[in-house]
Amino acid sequence: MIRHFLRDDDVTPAEQAEILDLADSFRADRFHHQPLAGPHSVAVIFDKPSTRTRVSFSVGIAELGGYPLVIDAQSSQMGRGEPIEDTTRVLDRQVRAIVWRTFGQDRIEAMAKVSAVPVVNALTDMFHPCQILADLQAVRLHKGKLSGLTMAYLGDGANNMAHSYLLGGAVAGMHVRVGSPAAYAPNGEILARAAQIAVETGGSVSHETTRAAAAEGADVVVTDTWVSMGQEGEADDRTSPFVPFAVDAEAMALADPQAVVLHCLPAYRGKEIAAEVIDGPQSIVWDEAENRLHAQKALLTWLLAQTEPPDAGEGSAR
Ligand code: CP
Repeated sequence: MIRHFLRDDDVTPAEQAEILDLADSFRADRFHHQPLAGPHSVAVIFDKPSTRTRVSFSVGIAELGGYPLVIDAQSSQMGRGEPIEDTTRVLDRQVRAIVWRTFGQDRIEAMAKVSAVPVVNALTDMFHPCQILADLQAVRLHKGKLSGLTMAYLGDGANNMAHSYLLGGAVAGMHVRVGSPAAYAPNGEILARAAQIAVETGGSVSHETTRAAAAEGADVVVTDTWVSMGQEGEADDRTSPFVPFAVDAEAMALADPQAVVLHCLPAYRGKEIAAEVIDGPQSIVWDEAENRLHAQKALLTWLLAQTEPPDAGEGSAR
């Protein structure tokens, strides 16, 4: 069976914990396990810009003993309209996994439908599940647990990070509160799915339309840019609605005094987060960024372990 990681609820609570434990083991010893030794290759495709995702997957695949085949879609035939399915069928005979940053969730789902190797979502317009694994690892590192903690996400409640925090946080048994203007509420189906998961894990999810309702007593305070990739043309309209949801000293005063602060980066100081907060003592963003490396190595290792090894008799050169 082939396991893919297209959204945060593609893993059960027990599986998420297993991946996070493995991520901690890679954080303690970066080279203790090399399932890609050979080297086997992993394709890492970008339809959108990236710094952290590109670096962490490239370094991580190399540290797992493999070869990171990084492809800018615009310089490939994909950028000229080659069908996703055709590209996938070419890649999956040569690589052990495909990692893709793209636009619509439907695109990565189309890839996974035909792929003979695991497909990993490295960000779509709907979700950013690899980032959430890194974030959960960082929170666990600093708080010692996830279940029962309250996480307040402030800003654009309709973006991929908000959706992934809802699902990934619910899987972890956290209480996730998304604070955003009513016009930027999370997708209703995702909110409902997260609520369903939370019933099983003892967590909870909610959408709040004031910063105070979301941040009150929170153990973790999170934000993200107000202008996601592809929204640059709307930048002028995407500031004033979010100003009341900024993560500044006032917001932090609402949270638990021991609260930690996350931001997936890139950050815009003075907009969604104040410099004194992201650069202050409650910020754990640099551990969060480092954890992209450990969490994704753990994820790839785990996915490969779940997936039948390629059958050499089929002419595969993976
Ligand atoms: N957080 C994140 O995904 O960063 P990049 O866009 O730089 O990859």
